[in-house]
Amino acid sequence: MAQDPILEVKGLKTYFFTRTGVVKAVDGVSFSLAQGETLGIVGESGCGKTITALSIMGLVPQPAGRIVGGKVLLEGEDLLQKNGPEMQRIRGRRICMILQDPMTSLNPLYTVGNQVIETLRSCGRPKKTGFRSRAIDLLQKVKIGAAENQLRAYPHQMSGGMRQRVVGAIAIAGEPRVLIADEATTSLDATIQFQYLLLLKELQRDWGLSIIFITHDFGIVAMMCNRVAVMYAGKIVESADVRDLFDHPSHPYTEALMKSVPNVDEDVDDLYSIDGQPPALDQLPKGCAFAPRCAYAFDRCFEEYPDQVEAGENHPVACWRV
Ligand SMILES: Nc1ncnc2c1ncn2[C@@H]1O[C@H](COP(=O)(O)OP(=O)(O)O)[C@@H](O)[C@H]1O
Ligand code: SF4
Ligand SMILES: [Mg+2]
Repeated sequence: MAQDPILEVKGLKTYFFTRTGVVKAVDGVSFSLAQGETLGIVGESGCGKTITALSIMGLVPQPAGRIVGGKVLLEGEDLLQKNGPEMQRIRGRRICMILQDPMTSLNPLYTVGNQVIETLRSCGRPKKTGFRSRAIDLLQKVKIGAAENQLRAYPHQMSGGMRQRVVGAIAIAGEPRVLIADEATTSLDATIQFQYLLLLKELQRDWGLSIIFITHDFGIVAMMCNRVAVMYAGKIVESADVRDLFDHPSHPYTEALMKSVPNVDEDVDDLYSIDGQPPALDQLPKGCAFAPRCAYAFDRCFEEYPDQVEAGENHPVACWRV
């Protein structure tokens, strides 16, 4: 897409300073997102996807976590220069994040209506129509039937799919420009997940919403995303337009991810089955972090981090073999 990016992340570094060492959770991540575009971020558990998202949101876990470098430009403004209250205003209104487990985003003690209306109030929306009628609109928008009655329901009275829709309604209440969905559909069954994805697409079409989709699932990437960034050990090792990535995966890690079949019986933390483990992020090896698991590794891979090269149009890859 040849538009100005709505979000640009440049050289982002987020480290955790722990008693045992420095965990380089995000180590020089760069990407950009255009209006109406969907970027997928894929990679095994523990490679820094969530911390990338939390860094953008200004929600890095404290006190150990710290952003030590880079820029996060939202419509040209660097979010890393904002203070707490400024970020609070930006979250929800301009950029919003949906988490994996809807129960952690909903308060079990309040009705759905209360929570949607509270979000609308805190965003100062809507200006003209009342909060309640806007809340009903929003629930209808995320395809919750009998929305008026559902306002009185508590989260536990709803199915998992319905709850995730409520979380979706809350996420879009402030009419954000950018939505980050972090494994947002992992806990849903296949049919509900599909419906939810269609819904996000519809919202995107209606509003030109830009989405970052963090997922384990290349099926979702194929359905939802325009571009994909593959993350390994805190770095993006390959990024490309979706079609190009599927047709020409160029980093051995991407290739391995695509070959590994997700096992639905396993825990979500363990969906990929590539031999070996990702390295501990406080003990990164010299050279390419994937080298100990890479079938193509040669001497240089263990010595020097690979330069980024273009494997195609707008298709950067960090690998000595490309
Ligand atoms: N609160 C924390 N303290 C120390 N290290 C953390 C903390 N949270 C995350 N990390 C580290 O950051 C790495 C990246 O985590 P995360 O972004 O959650 O991975 P992903 O979302 O890709 O599964 C983890 O491997 C972990 O070592
Ligand atoms: S740089 Fe070497 S070890 Fe790393 S992915 Fe490429 S071939 Fe494999
Ligand atoms: Mg995560």
